[in-house]
Amino acid sequence: MALTCLLVVVLGAALPLLFFSPAEAGVVGVNYGRVANDLPGPASVVQLLKQNGITMVRVYDTDPKVLTALANTGIKVMVMLPNNNLTAAAANPSYALQWARSNVAAYYPATQIHAVAVGNEVFHRRPDLTPQLVPAMTNVQAALAKLGLDAAVKVSTPIAFTALKDTFPPSSGRFREDIAQSVMKPMLDFLQRTHSYLSINPYPFFAYADQPDKISLDYALGNSNPGVRDNNTGLVYYSLLDAMLDATYFAMDKLGQTGSLNVRQSIGSHSHKLYVTETGWASGGKPKLGKTPHSGGRRLEAGDGSQAASVANAQAYNNNVINRVLSGKTGTPHRPHADMDVYIFALFNENQKGEGPDDSEKNFGLFYPNETKVYEFDFHGGGALTKSWCVANEAVGDARLQAALDYACGHGADCSAIQPGAPCFEPNTKVAHASYAFNSYYQRNGRARGRCDFAGAASVVYQAPKYGNCVFPIKA
Ligand SMILES: *[C@@H]1O[C@H](CO)[C@@H](O)[C@H](O)[C@H]1NC(C)=O
Ligand SMILES: *[C@@H]1O[C@H](CO)[C@@H](O)[C@H](O)[C@H]1NC(C)=O
Ligand SMILES: *[C@@H]1O[C@H](CO)[C@@H](O)[C@H](O)[C@H]1NC(C)=O
Repeated sequence: MALTCLLVVVLGAALPLLFFSPAEAGVVGVNYGRVANDLPGPASVVQLLKQNGITMVRVYDTDPKVLTALANTGIKVMVMLPNNNLTAAAANPSYALQWARSNVAAYYPATQIHAVAVGNEVFHRRPDLTPQLVPAMTNVQAALAKLGLDAAVKVSTPIAFTALKDTFPPSSGRFREDIAQSVMKPMLDFLQRTHSYLSINPYPFFAYADQPDKISLDYALGNSNPGVRDNNTGLVYYSLLDAMLDATYFAMDKLGQTGSLNVRQSIGSHSHKLYVTETGWASGGKPKLGKTPHSGGRRLEAGDGSQAASVANAQAYNNNVINRVLSGKTGTPHRPHADMDVYIFALFNENQKGEGPDDSEKNFGLFYPNETKVYEFDFHGGGALTKSWCVANEAVGDARLQAALDYACGHGADCSAIQPGAPCFEPNTKVAHASYAFNSYYQRNGRARGRCDFAGAASVVYQAPKYGNCVFPIKA
């Protein structure tokens, strides 16, 4: 341990600030999809949400049974005006008012509706309705204002990631030409004017499944990885989700730059928060592509990205997202202070989704329909994390690893096992020793959120680390 003492003395005072991240900011919730014939009733679902500390849901309609079951729970709800009703809402302000009255005002405030999604992935699913989108949003927002609900209830519309092109490197990201000026620009102006946010459905799962030869799995999952550099900006990305979010922010920037000063300011000011209305990873089945700019909607053959869906991968991705939001890390390399609310897709496996019995679309759930978890996860902010380990992120370099290693060993980690001759001395590498120390510190702090960060030098993993024959302890 002698080798570590000097730095502890020198850096001891400054490091604690550096090594803990703020534990507030965005909210993480779930998408309560119901494309299934075997789900529990809304009352049991609401109990399930409460038992699991889930404080925010998005639903795909305004089902009275669901909205009534959610009343007086404090759970925040994003409801939806379905694509099928978009034309009526766009054409007719009185339809929008009647809709808002009977589908929002009728339940609020007992049911904490905080946003209305006007349509879902309209460009992708119903391109014929694209011209109606912003007029429908405008009418629904005006209706909410008439009902005195516009401060409490925001209007947005989830867009599929296919609304973007040139998404790598992220700084090249822009909206498709056919929608950029005609739809996205007025939409961004509308969102800014009404203090709402752009909603996007990024799926690293589909991007990885489409190009498993070009994208590393750890990068797609948000596990510790060497990072991918954007050579235009010099920004380094340690997760594909961040790269997708920044492609979106850069696309928004580009629409701002072409306008007046006023427009530039308006785009800039609301680009500090996004609603990530869907993201998730399938635990089984085969991915059908078509959700990313690169894919052509083809079904994968065995041997390529068809192995992307697994319980281990879904557990890693979703836990990484949940833990990140709960520990306040909602910024991205391009927008370090940005906020985001994230809805994990989805609450349940939904047996009537997708095409054919083996479509991964059926397997995005955190729960089986019988309310058993598909894998461990935990939405309780501030609480201990589920069965997990803490490992070093080699990409930060030896100097930062050493500083963090010294901090851990000087603050309660058991570092005896990595001394010469001890069981975890081999392999004698900085990353192995730092991982051992970080994990010991993390376990001894009860796997508390924020205790596996070390200024970005560490991250949580859900499978036991393997460094030689060293056994990494885990606290029961
Ligand atoms: C929405 O559209 C569907 C399908 O066209 C229709 O059956 C339903 O009545 C509409 N809902 C409202 C509130 O207009
Ligand atoms: C960025 O530049 C480096 C060094 O020139 C190169 O190795 C790397 O492939 C480039 N990355 C991308 C994504 O173009
Ligand atoms: C719930 O369903 C899953 C998947 O069918 C099954 O593996 C699990 O054993 C079931 N759990 C209970 C408690 O029935």
